[in-house]
Amino acid sequence: MWEKKPILFMLMATGAILVGTLITMVLPFAWVNTEADRIETVSPYTALQQEGRDIYIREGCNNCHTQTVRPLVAEVLRYGDYSKSGEFVYDRPFLWGSKRTGPDLARIGGKYPDEWHYKHMASPRSMVPRTNMPAYAWLADNKLDPQEIRHKMDVLGFPYTEEEIQGLAGKTEMDAIVAYMQKLGTGIPWQKASTTTIVGELKNPYAGAERATVEHWKRLYEDNCAACHGKNMEGDIGPELDGSAYEENELFEIIYKGIPDNGMPAFSSLGADKDWKLVNFIKYHAQGEDH
Ligand code: HEC
Ligand code: HEC
Repeated sequence: MWEKKPILFMLMATGAILVGTLITMVLPFAWVNTEADRIETVSPYTALQQEGRDIYIREGCNNCHTQTVRPLVAEVLRYGDYSKSGEFVYDRPFLWGSKRTGPDLARIGGKYPDEWHYKHMASPRSMVPRTNMPAYAWLADNKLDPQEIRHKMDVLGFPYTEEEIQGLAGKTEMDAIVAYMQKLGTGIPWQKASTTTIVGELKNPYAGAERATVEHWKRLYEDNCAACHGKNMEGDIGPELDGSAYEENELFEIIYKGIPDNGMPAFSSLGADKDWKLVNFIKYHAQGEDH
């Protein structure tokens, strides 16, 4: 019946579309920019971090990496607390991304020590044997120009002091990208809030495993731990590992939960089974067999 009255039909269709637009586009702006949505602990980027952010954009890191953890159990377990809108107030433009060739970086800050990042950026394969991330070693040869940040300040309205600007002199693009990585996701104290809990009693499922079996798990150690603890547990970025210094359960807890804020990532994402294999491999190694 309406389709016979084109004017009325057109007005009603327009009205219907407008309601949709209002709800999905305009209202979120009103919701997001409320006081309640501001997060007090979220601070602007420092001059060095801001430079790093611009290098991230220039190099197209966002073609392989997202910066947003969705509120799904699997994502939170893998990456950490899900992203809150208030964490992005200083992101211009935002870098949420849509393609994950590499892992999400929204919570990368504090996950690794600086030194890990320097080595990983210079040669990803030296830290993660089978990664396809390109190397960015040359960033270390490019010095930052402190004058550049002045222009950005004008555009973005970030208030950097003269001291901060001068502080950029002598820094490289590599310093900047690492500083930026360490800032990501640290605006809220999520690590303290999300202590991993281990459900049930701890019991080594591989107690008394054969030497030949344990040797198979060397690969797990090489892929996940050797970059920081050395090929033979002699220590590098992280300390030397002496399996005899720990009870099995203690070792399991350290591996499973990591040591947040001290550069030891949690390996709950590997799953309890692989973590137990690592415990046994480290314990076994401590018994003084030769490699
Ligand atoms: C071709 C895709 C690709 C590009 C481009 C790329 N990455 Fe990666 N990135 C990866 C992959 C795959 C991994 C996972 C393996 C690894 O750690 O190397 C990774 C891992 C990482 C990690 C460690 C994440 C973690 O939780 O362990 C960081 C940090 C990182 N990339 C930063 C960067 C930065 C900064 C750039 C731009 C300068 C960049 N990536 C460009 C693919 C890429
Ligand atoms: C990104 C670097 C890094 C990676 C990867 C890493 N660790 Fe660590 N690990 C550290 C650092 C740094 C410490 C010291 C933390 C501290 O002093 O509080 C540490 C501490 C430890 C400790 C306690 C040792 C001690 O003497 O205090 C154990 C056990 C350990 N790591 C096991 C592992 C295992 C097993 C893996 C692989 C699944 C692994 N780590 C991967 C950096 C790393």
